[in-house]
Amino acid sequence: MSAFQLENVTLRFGSLAAVDSVSLSIEPGEQVAFIGPSGSGKTTLIRLLNTMRRQDEGSLSVFGENVIEFSDRRLRELRSLVATIPQHLGLVPNLTCLQNVILGKGGSRGTIRSIRDLIFPAHDDQLAVHEILDRVGIEEKLFERISNLSGGQQQRVAIARALFQEPKALLADEPVSSVDPARARDTVKLLTELSKERGFTLGVSLHHLELAREFFPRLVGMRNGKVVFDGAPESLSEEDLEALYELSDEEMMEDA
Ligand SMILES: Nc1ncnc2c1ncn2[C@@H]1O[C@H](COP(=O)(O)OP(=O)(O)OP(=O)(O)O)[C@@H](O)[C@H]1O
Ligand SMILES: [Mg+2]
Repeated sequence: MSAFQLENVTLRFGSLAAVDSVSLSIEPGEQVAFIGPSGSGKTTLIRLLNTMRRQDEGSLSVFGENVIEFSDRRLRELRSLVATIPQHLGLVPNLTCLQNVILGKGGSRGTIRSIRDLIFPAHDDQLAVHEILDRVGIEEKLFERISNLSGGQQQRVAIARALFQEPKALLADEPVSSVDPARARDTVKLLTELSKERGFTLGVSLHHLELAREFFPRLVGMRNGKVVFDGAPESLSEEDLEALYELSDEEMMEDA
């Protein structure tokens, strides 16, 4: 059973196919980087994979289940199985790291329980969060408010929040867009190490091609909603790169 299986999946915004007839399988435990220029459909693909969006055409299964057949309840369960780190992290600035991480399980625990967990975190949760913050290197920030942390530290809290869900898959959309190159490298390295350690499937969209090549055994390259490359970084040729990133005549005209 694949973690994600797409067959001819299309999602349109008006007349634009943001994801255009994509067929793709991602196996449990695989680590995949989604690359490609701005507007190529990476974020839209991630939203299909985490079921925040439904496809217009084609079929998509997540861990063996066809998403079209999901009930709302099953969707909620699935969303805790597939953790997502959005580009802007989605942390609550006035709450502490502990509270933000605990909120990660909110979806699967129900409203009343999550409010109680937030105000009176259970001892077990506190220990678990402490252990996770330790693993991501910011254990001393347990009771610190998010607004007092640097961008790189906030990324680590967002990773911790996803880990706390004990997901079977973790999707991260441009997780390193707002930090310096050294910290970006550390974060990508951490994500791939965690995926190996804990066995979850990892899908990350990345503008940093070099980081994608260094840390991911599989790259999926998108252009205009289509997958135009799918393979190991060693097999990404100059022609592939041109097909992915080179400006078309039309785009050059727009720039002129
Ligand atoms: N909610 C929306 N409504 C209308 N069009 C959208 C919407 N979301 C995305 N699009 C369009 O779909 C296409 C793909 O967008 P998407 O955000 O998936 O690209 P991306 O590869 O993530 O780009 P970037 O690298 O800039 O984040 C773009 O042309 C975009 O303008
Ligand atoms: Mg995007």
